Amino acid sequence: METLDEIGLRHKTDKSTMTHHYLGVYESYLKDWRDKEFTLIELGIAAGNSLKMWHQAFPKAKIIGIDINPDCAGYCEPPIEVYIGSQTDTVFLDSVLAKIGVPDVIIDDGSHVGADMIFSFRHLFPKMKAGGFYVVEDTHAGAYIPTYAGEMESNGRSKAFNFFTGLVYDVDVAGRGSCGNAEFCINHPSETPAVPEFSRILECAFFHCSLWWFKRR
Ligand SMILES: C[S@@+](CC[C@H](N)C(=O)[O-])C[C@H]1O[C@@H](n2cnc3c(N)ncnc32)[C@H](O)[C@@H]1O
Repeated sequence: METLDEIGLRHKTDKSTMTHHYLGVYESYLKDWRDKEFTLIELGIAAGNSLKMWHQAFPKAKIIGIDINPDCAGYCEPPIEVYIGSQTDTVFLDSVLAKIGVPDVIIDDGSHVGADMIFSFRHLFPKMKAGGFYVVEDTHAGAYIPTYAGEMESNGRSKAFNFFTGLVYDVDVAGRGSCGNAEFCINHPSETPAVPEFSRILECAFFHCSLWWFKRR
């Protein structure tokens, strides 16, 4: 079977070893998904190279692209579905979900603006299927480059860096019991402090270079 990188190189996506070297990481998490039926949304289409790669690599998956640029509607053919709107427009995002159903994989390769990365994750991650993955790409932009990341916070890190790395606290259900049983820690009624925002739905997180993964519980 062709590797994701081989398929990606053929479609000239910058996720391949042509540029970012992300596809080996995708392969490691999605190696058992190649023959599976599932729904993948990518925020950010550009010329459609990555959508075409996903469709070829995962022929049974429903591949959905979202982009703010209307020109992107013309770059892919069915069965790939394209929706035009912003990753920060909750009404639009919900209308897409109403049409396509519950997503298993969401990839944020959109604006790369730190605030948008946080906004889309906050809105979409709770609406994903258990066992699915939310992927944030090109964090070298949204978490570090000032034009994307915005002003640094008091610890010298960006808001996006602090938000996403801060999710460790949510995964750990920090301070709620000295055991590795997250279900118990989340559900134990007498413990304080309050269960953090994503504890009930975020199973774990993986930080690769410029590529962050969040697994839905
Ligand atoms: C890096 S490109 C996507 C590349 C594509 N995923 C690929 O790998 O071939 C980023 C895309 O995000 C789109 N974009 C920028 N801001 C956006 C927003 N607020 N909502 C949705 N898409 C946005 C741009 O129009 C551009 O097409």
